[in-house]
Amino acid sequence: MQIETNTSLRNYHTFSIEQSCDVLVEVTSVEDLQQVYQNPQWQALPKLMLGKGSNMLFTEPFKGVVMVNKLQGIEVTHSEHHWHLHVAGGEDWPSFVKWSVEQGYVGLENLALIPGCVGSAPIQNIGAYGLEIKDICEYVDVLNLDSFTVSRMSAEECQFGYRDSIFKHQLYGKVVIVAVGFKLSKVWQPRIEYGPLQSFDATTVTASQIFERVCQVRMEKLPDPQVTGNAGSFFKNPVISLQHYQALLTQFPTLVAYPTDGGMKVAAGWLIDQCGLKGFVQGGAQVHPNQALVLVNHQHATAQDVVLLADHVRRTVWQKYAIELEHEVRFMGAEHETNLIKLRGALS
Ligand code: FAD
Ligand code: EPU
Repeated sequence: MQIETNTSLRNYHTFSIEQSCDVLVEVTSVEDLQQVYQNPQWQALPKLMLGKGSNMLFTEPFKGVVMVNKLQGIEVTHSEHHWHLHVAGGEDWPSFVKWSVEQGYVGLENLALIPGCVGSAPIQNIGAYGLEIKDICEYVDVLNLDSFTVSRMSAEECQFGYRDSIFKHQLYGKVVIVAVGFKLSKVWQPRIEYGPLQSFDATTVTASQIFERVCQVRMEKLPDPQVTGNAGSFFKNPVISLQHYQALLTQFPTLVAYPTDGGMKVAAGWLIDQCGLKGFVQGGAQVHPNQALVLVNHQHATAQDVVLLADHVRRTVWQKYAIELEHEVRFMGAEHETNLIKLRGALS
């Protein structure tokens, strides 16, 4: 187990903002995790399980133990109609998807190039290009932090929703995901309903072609965190009532929205864009000039710059459309998770 103290988190999250933590531990096994949680020296310290930090904003130096997920290993079995992939939580998601397509275990290709670890993917039920992890997840193995035993949860028990799961609610802080099981049909069905995939012919398209197209579109649309720090979509796409949508439509006829459970899901990128905020700068942080839903570390941004920018975006959108944006990115404070609403008081 590799341990560092008073160390920089800059290389451990994709916003690449300078921030520190008291202790950083790379965990390579379930036993490592058990040791960290049971170490008397660290008992009183807050603990944070971290994958690749691609959905994180550290708003303050973290006064606790950061565990970096390095649990490795993939096992493949099969039943009559399915491939079953058991994947350790620390495996790199984009590498895993690429490998699976190359091996012919197809069905994950729409989720190509999403940064992060396999073990983090169920937390917000990652999704893109017409597929969510809930569609191919068979089970999630968790380490229970009260008993320190590992148990298996079915996909149904995970209560997956849009960028949501039980791990953000009832099981928040109670478990660590150590492995994920995927169930992929041997009879492959392409998913090509989403915009840039619609030009494919369902009878001839291959999983590799979908994989390549998704990679290409993502590379064109989204800033590469290796070049420009960011955490993907900063806000979720909000769901509003049909009544609210219809009222807005009379004022904004080109509003982009899709029907969903409970109303209409509105494209937050469109809302922000139409407020004229593309390229808007706050200190070193910026609304990305090509994709308004992504906030970037433009030039040596501080966490405060990002928080102020996010608050400006949120307020501007609220004033124009009476829609409250909720951030998808997780905010971690000195000891606890926080959010824009809580920080807003401190800002004003
Ligand atoms: P982290 O950011 O390290 O952690 C996220 C949260 O999960 C934290 O609260 C952390 O404590 C918790 N956590 C992490 N691992 C565990 C564990 N093993 N057990 C319990 N809790 C844990 N997301 C999408 O859904 N779709 C996209 O298309 C998409 N595109 C993106 C594009 C870019 C350029 C970037 C930077 C991000 C994008 N994201 C997208 C967001 C991000 O990739 C996902 O949220 C991803 O699953 C985060 O994985 P991670 O390992 O980096 O998690
Ligand atoms: N749009 C604009 N201006 C912008 C950005 C977008 O008008 O600056 C419009 C687009 O023209 C399009 C609509 O908004 O009509 C939606 O845009 P896009 O298809 O790029 O998708 P998105 O809503 O911005 C969502 C996910 C992404 C995911 C893509 C593809 C959320 C919050 N974001 O983005 O996930 O990759 O769809 O499925 O649901 C992430 O979660 O981090 C993420 C990147």
